[in-house]
Amino acid sequence: MNRTLQTVEEELVGLLQKHGDTFLNTKDISLKLGVHPYTVYQAVRELRRWEFQIQSERGKGYRLVESPNLILPAEIKKNLKTKIFGKKIYSYRKVGSTNMLGFRLAETKAEEGTLIVAEEQTKGKGRMGRSWYSPPQLGLWMSLILRPDIPPFKAPGLSICAGLALALAIKEMTGIEAKIKWPNDCLIDGNKVGGILLELSAELDRINFVIVGIGVNVNHSEKDFPKDLASTATSIKIKVGHNISRLSLLTSFLEKFERIYLDFKKNGLSPQREMIKSFSSLLGEKVTVKFGKEKIEGMAEDIDDNGSLVIRTKKGEKMVTAGEVTVL
Ligand code: BTN
Repeated sequence: MNRTLQTVEEELVGLLQKHGDTFLNTKDISLKLGVHPYTVYQAVRELRRWEFQIQSERGKGYRLVESPNLILPAEIKKNLKTKIFGKKIYSYRKVGSTNMLGFRLAETKAEEGTLIVAEEQTKGKGRMGRSWYSPPQLGLWMSLILRPDIPPFKAPGLSICAGLALALAIKEMTGIEAKIKWPNDCLIDGNKVGGILLELSAELDRINFVIVGIGVNVNHSEKDFPKDLASTATSIKIKVGHNISRLSLLTSFLEKFERIYLDFKKNGLSPQREMIKSFSSLLGEKVTVKFGKEKIEGMAEDIDDNGSLVIRTKKGEKMVTAGEVTVL
């Protein structure tokens, strides 16, 4: 079988974890994994580079002493119950932007559900050309490659699906009710805890692929945010008072997002609409939405089946498909 070194690493971690404190020798490992002993050596070397503490003793073999606080494919896959999301994972210590990488991978035919995750981004992208602060090991910085067979005008619904999945995952893990601020923010007590950036490759009537970029501030303390974000951003840790497992949050999010996404592809947003509305921070608020040169003011009344925000203005109802919302 032709396996990549990453697959061997994943299986080796699983094997060492299963054997707890017991040493496993190279010969046994190579037999169990069906690879050459040199590949075992290479996999151990690579895992140590990722800060796995693997003890080796002459004549005894290897044992896993400690796994690092990193989001690694093997760890993600161990508990992940999805059909397509995260079946293929690219994980990095440091990248410019997982969205940029995702875009490149998608152009070279990466399959639907491919996940790109990084510990740190140096050029994290936010909406409207803004940057996204992505310090090492504190958050979830990830992108998913999707290839939905839907018309491009329905794509904004994906952002809402991702926001809903994130709010549900945060609730499941912490009990905290995060809110979805249409179209792409996730808020706790009015402060931004997560954001979603959709990037599309499409023709007029069909989508080639969508990169759904998700950033979540997980274990930041107040001091970890730069001054310009201090008053608007927050993290889950700040709200619950302790660190939470980025890995569990990630798996929970992926499972929820996949379920909602598959439903969305078949049935649109309508089955999720009531839930989306109940998590929405804007409904019933007086808002302005800036969209290009246009500015709409009115009462945010509804989110329709296409994911558009319905605003009651002085001149009647207006549907907005994208924009920057300010609550008045
Ligand atoms: C926003 O609220 O402006 C959207 C922020 C999206 C940030 C995420 S982090 C992972 C992915 N890669 C990026 O470069 N951006 C998105």
